[in-house]
Amino acid sequence: MCGIVAYVGYRPALPVLLAGLRRLEYRGYDSAGVALVRPGWIERHRVAGPLDGLVRATRRVDASATTGIGHTRWATHGAPTVENAHPHIDCHGTWAVLHTGIIETHEALRARLRRRGHRFRSQTDTEVIAHLLEDAPSQDPPKAVAWATARLEGSFSLEIVSARDPGRVVAVRLGSPLVVGLGVGEQFIASDVPALLPFTRRVVYLEDAEQCEVTADGIRLERAGRRRRMRIETLRVGETEAERSGYPHFMLKEIHEQPEAVAAALQGRIDLARAQVRLTEKGYGRIDPRRVRRVVAIGCGTALHAALVAKRSIEGLARVPVDVVAASEFRYGEPVLGPGTVVLAISQSGETADTLAGVRLARASRRPVLAIVNVPGSALTREADAVLPMRAGLEIGVASTKAYTSQLVMALLLALDWGRQRGTLSPSAARALLKGLVSLPGALRRTLGLSGTIRRAAQRFAKGHHGNFMFVGRGYNFATAFEGALKLKEITYRHAEGYGAGEMKHGPLALVDARLPVVAVAVRDTVRAKIASNIEEIRARGGNLLVVGTEGDHALARRAGVFFGIPDLPEPLTPVVAVVPLQLFAYHLAVALGRDVDRPRNLAKSVTVE
Ligand code: AGP
Repeated sequence: MCGIVAYVGYRPALPVLLAGLRRLEYRGYDSAGVALVRPGWIERHRVAGPLDGLVRATRRVDASATTGIGHTRWATHGAPTVENAHPHIDCHGTWAVLHTGIIETHEALRARLRRRGHRFRSQTDTEVIAHLLEDAPSQDPPKAVAWATARLEGSFSLEIVSARDPGRVVAVRLGSPLVVGLGVGEQFIASDVPALLPFTRRVVYLEDAEQCEVTADGIRLERAGRRRRMRIETLRVGETEAERSGYPHFMLKEIHEQPEAVAAALQGRIDLARAQVRLTEKGYGRIDPRRVRRVVAIGCGTALHAALVAKRSIEGLARVPVDVVAASEFRYGEPVLGPGTVVLAISQSGETADTLAGVRLARASRRPVLAIVNVPGSALTREADAVLPMRAGLEIGVASTKAYTSQLVMALLLALDWGRQRGTLSPSAARALLKGLVSLPGALRRTLGLSGTIRRAAQRFAKGHHGNFMFVGRGYNFATAFEGALKLKEITYRHAEGYGAGEMKHGPLALVDARLPVVAVAVRDTVRAKIASNIEEIRARGGNLLVVGTEGDHALARRAGVFFGIPDLPEPLTPVVAVVPLQLFAYHLAVALGRDVDRPRNLAKSVTVE
């Protein structure tokens, strides 16, 4: 959560900070602020609300300062007001601090600092850091920061400047991502890569418990007081990946990027002639599928839904039992991870606190962790024993779309590979599925052609003032119903519930009447007849049906108020395409309702706090 940036170098810092924050707004947009280091003092500007207000508020600022830090906030402690906006300063305005994460011991620290005479101006946990720095025995920034952070507990990343040392920024990573961008005579720090793209492609990812000292001439990394050698990486991110490229929202752009994202996930990983999958990434070969007795799949939100689909694929194709657990429950449960258990962690950002905590629990139990993850250099890519990169490219829209379909494809490749190695999947069956995978980009492209029809349907529902939606699915598309409901909830703010279609008659059918839109995922698969019956049950009670089915299924189309047909696919592949009409429906409904699609209220793209 929260987007943080820093700059030190030869240019005016303010424009660099504002440009970086603009590209990090998807991480939080409750309030925003900057601190510019002047000789002997710190100039601070802060606003409540999104970044536009800060741009207006700093229009006439003297832009000569060449060191500064900036923040766009997702509030954890304290309402999104100006007083709680970052940066926070100490009593004398010597130190300025930005923070993303949570300081769990902030209340006790605040009380102790108050007793020492410090005056607090905000309700944030962050402000205690500024007053701690004021009390540090050495006011040399790197030493003071090390002293202060040793007294903090929680998960956080910090950027700190001192008026006593205008040409230096000190950063600390402990749980929330930080990446340093390396320039010539200038350096950049950000909580995520998009902020660096206009300035540099050479980066160093900070690791947990590291402190980084940045000046115009370079950076110095330390962990526990010992210097760490830098590992410089080059970003392979397209110039326009962090741009809307003519789309009105990142979410729509990323929905339409799914054919290319899926093609990238498949690139070089399919051997049709030998009916095999080639997965050669970090550590994957060390997990022998013939010795795997059980998989525990963990994730959050959309990634949890991907885990539900992965369960069906792995059990169906590789015959390995899979349990799916929300990472937020797994981390505090008492999971039984017996011999032969592999934990499958799924995450787009690779920084979700609950998922990382689950990974650490698995590793403490000495069970291997296999990760399906998108962001290169993320904590999950470093902490998992084996990594399957999704290659979906930057996903900036808070509502995850292309990452979800790429996660499903990675899970299918895993299930296929394990099925072939375990002998539970014949070469001919595998070849048919591989051919289906190769057809996915085209099937996605064809389904995206429904966007106009879906937009018109969504606009009708926007006028209908429907307060609730029900999404139902079965089998491989059981999770599709839950993912469709989540998409609609998180960007339209209308309630939506995903449900197993077979479960409707055990209670939820009581909700059905002409006012309740029911979205049914009923593609041509082994449970189509069953869900057709469920659709009849809903229809008989006047339910307002939208159906995602297979093109040419006229029998179902006749029963639906609205029918979206997707191409015919092998059953295990249908969730990859069936979700697209639901993504588009949620998107167009949100636009029709005037929602801020890329910055939905109360949310942030990467939940790095628990
Ligand atoms: C999905 O649309 C949401 N933005 C959210 O549920 C997200 O999937 C979840 O926070 C997990 O994020 P991750 O994949 O980066 O771990």
